[in-house]
Amino acid sequence: MFFDYQPKPMKGEIMAELIKINLTEDEMPRQWYNLNADFDKPMPPPVAADGKPITPDMLAPVFPMNLIEQEMSTERWINIPEEVLGVLKLWRPSPLYRAKRLEKMLGTPARIYYKNEGVSPPGSHKPNTAIAQAYYNKEFGIKKLTTETGAGQWGSALAFSCQLMGLQCKVFMVRISFDQKPFRKMMMNTWGADCVASPSEETNAGREILKNDPDTPGSLGIAISEAIEQAVQNKDTRYALGSVLNHVLLHQTIIGLEAKKQLDKIGVYPDVIIGCAGGGSNFAGIAFPFICDKIAGKTIRIIATEPESCPTLTRAPYAYDSGDVAMMTPLLPMYSLGHTFVPPPIHAGGLRYHGMAPMVSHALREKLIEAAALHQLECYESAVLWARTEGFIPAPETAHAIAQVIREAKMAKEEGKEKILLMNWSGHGLMDLTGYQAYFDGKLKDYALPDELLQRSLASLKGLPKPPGV
Ligand SMILES: Cc1ncc(COP(=O)(O)O)c(C=O)c1O
Repeated sequence: MFFDYQPKPMKGEIMAELIKINLTEDEMPRQWYNLNADFDKPMPPPVAADGKPITPDMLAPVFPMNLIEQEMSTERWINIPEEVLGVLKLWRPSPLYRAKRLEKMLGTPARIYYKNEGVSPPGSHKPNTAIAQAYYNKEFGIKKLTTETGAGQWGSALAFSCQLMGLQCKVFMVRISFDQKPFRKMMMNTWGADCVASPSEETNAGREILKNDPDTPGSLGIAISEAIEQAVQNKDTRYALGSVLNHVLLHQTIIGLEAKKQLDKIGVYPDVIIGCAGGGSNFAGIAFPFICDKIAGKTIRIIATEPESCPTLTRAPYAYDSGDVAMMTPLLPMYSLGHTFVPPPIHAGGLRYHGMAPMVSHALREKLIEAAALHQLECYESAVLWARTEGFIPAPETAHAIAQVIREAKMAKEEGKEKILLMNWSGHGLMDLTGYQAYFDGKLKDYALPDELLQRSLASLKGLPKPPGV
């Protein structure tokens, strides 16, 4: 058996009618779940440019060894350290809500449940891993973490976590967001982090780019290169990544493990699970603890949603590709639009990454999950309907999950089926209101990635090794 608790019988109508299903702190999961233990076919390993699997020592200048061990682990269960649990308890267990007002508005027989990850201090699921990463770095003797951030969700989560774990934090924030979205930077400063616009004068990578293009808006790829450069040059500094890697996804499984216990309390099991996917971490967090049931034979649909403008899971090939533009990371087996992909300026900044977590990519290849791409107008329309029924204002990334939930709820109505839908509500949008304003002003347009642009960025995959079977 995968889980150490037994399903309990339904406790009657009252439980099923609850709006909010809570767990006590004692009921919080004590272990993370590692899907790598249960894939029928193992994932291909990350490789170097010569196609040979990388070894732990090759990652040592960038990450502490205790996290590298987690990255490569195939243990099914990994204990959550008490100190990490102690901080997570500030907002965890997060409530599981039933979206009854939305159900009523849609007239659907489906029951919509959502895990509210917007209740963390920075406002998203990101601190679930930021706290764990800060802890393991501290245990390893590291004094400072560097990272990159786009719109600022991840940077603010790491700033918060470093402050609580007693580490210094340096965030390279993509220039255009640094100028246009100052509030996330102010949050990082409030939590004691140093946040600079990227490209900066502080690194070789930044200086080189500024020399050629002083007015560049920056990109996530450049910011990653700057953050890694500073980490590898200082003995007591390491780099932290907010998505994509195995250990990041592992730390997020607390979401799905809690949801499973919460649904169990009211005696239900989901028919459909939905999460938005940028690098794949919040989707993995809700989905992976249920995927193991699917591997064991349960019938369940699990859907990752992404923007039509950045269609990694729905249109990109499965390939070995680098995580950043400067190719400083190992080659990861993943669906990728190509590391030179330049994302269009949609408001869901967290869904603009060129690749997808290797574990999520492998799950799609193994047909354990499905993927759907959505246009931004449908997402904003869904987010506004959500805010006007359920109250909480979602992040634009989260809106991609909501739009799919609404599609599924409408389908359940057409079919006359009382389906159980479970969604990860990955974060609030209170720092993203300019996107809502642009939507209300009619300034947003739908944008499907043109094939010629896709082909251009895919050209950057040429000459790289290929995963087995491709
Ligand atoms: C609120 C929110 N949801 C989703 C995402 C997408 O990231 P991931 O796929 O790693 O969960 C982000 C990324 O910044 C985010 O801030």
